[in-house]
Amino acid sequence: MSSEPVNVNDFKELARLALPKMYYDFYSGGAEDEHTLRENIQAFYRITIRPRVLVDVSKVDMSTTILGHHISAPILVAPTAAHKLAFHEGELATARAAAAVKTIMVLSYSSTCSIEEVASSCNSVRFFQLYIFKRRDISALLVQRAERCGYKAIILTVDTPRLGRREADIKNKMIAPPVKSLEGLISIDVKSDQGSKLETYANEMLDASLSWEDIGWLRSITTLPILIKGVLTHEDATKAVEAGVDGIIVSNHGARQLDFAPATVSVLEEVVHAVKGKIPVLLDGGVRRGTDVFKALALGAQAVLIGRPVIYGLAAKGEEGVRTVMEMLKNELETSMALSGCPSIKDITRSHVRTHYDNLPSML
Ligand SMILES: Cc1cc2nc3c(=O)[nH]c(=O)nc-3n(C[C@H](O)[C@H](O)[C@H](O)COP(=O)(O)O)c2cc1C
Repeated sequence: MSSEPVNVNDFKELARLALPKMYYDFYSGGAEDEHTLRENIQAFYRITIRPRVLVDVSKVDMSTTILGHHISAPILVAPTAAHKLAFHEGELATARAAAAVKTIMVLSYSSTCSIEEVASSCNSVRFFQLYIFKRRDISALLVQRAERCGYKAIILTVDTPRLGRREADIKNKMIAPPVKSLEGLISIDVKSDQGSKLETYANEMLDASLSWEDIGWLRSITTLPILIKGVLTHEDATKAVEAGVDGIIVSNHGARQLDFAPATVSVLEEVVHAVKGKIPVLLDGGVRRGTDVFKALALGAQAVLIGRPVIYGLAAKGEEGVRTVMEMLKNELETSMALSGCPSIKDITRSHVRTHYDNLPSML
């Protein structure tokens, strides 16, 4: 691409040019036929915005709070693996960019920089993403380290009892990226370049027997708020509230786990209704525009998280690229709010969007 990127989607092509094919495929790919991957984006297209006019929008305030932490806009950095495959400074660059735009980064357990390195890279609020492993002692140790380093919440990913079938990685014989947080803790050779080790390694580590009772175990070892990531139904949202978690992230893991899982924005409202305002609901998956953020907020999300675009920004331009991606989304959100007659986040309501379901009664 000859010209400078003007939106987040432009960064995808820049990343493709910057990265070895194996890594680009790893970041961009989804599970099996990638139906959900396409749907995550297309479901946003099916929602329209109902703007209001003659509202004073000379000042637009996007700031909000998440679990009591003040941020400049309801757009967080999602936990994604192995940033050093995209850029030599890895998660340190991402963390600095998130801090610069005054938002929260969720550090993946599969980080290629250590929990401690990221914590000392800059002063900012961060959350830590966790899996519960067969080796509970390892999960417990990660939680302790995150607590000690000042991370403010644990994001427990619950959609991964085993790894989804990412066929691009299988074809490319994708290697397992070195997970810095596990260094010295396990004997699995995660640095092996013998072929497609990703799935084998993950499946050996992950505890597929995990159930709702185990949330109690996690609660017993930490005082940090616990959010569960990967809820897609009202049944599970209700169970999450009963289990006493502090928040839900509506997520299908960026369409990398179960293909034909629903697009996240298409089930957001179902989850929001089940939760009845008791705990915050966040969303990730397919957010590529400020209008997408606006739509998610109108349907009841407190904030959204950004996965792939952050990595594309990192691959294309390092820390500056991540900052630009996040700023582009913020600027677009600000414009969407101004053009919809919403001077602040609390002014964005359900009546500002129309979904496919809203049209149904008139079709009967
Ligand atoms: C390359 C890649 C790695 C990811 N690694 C993790 C991870 O380690 N833990 C996790 O909970 N989610 C992980 N995710 C899922 C993201 O947190 C998030 O749910 C998803 O990327 C959001 O969709 P988007 O990429 O369309 O924005 C990963 C996603 C991608 C694309």
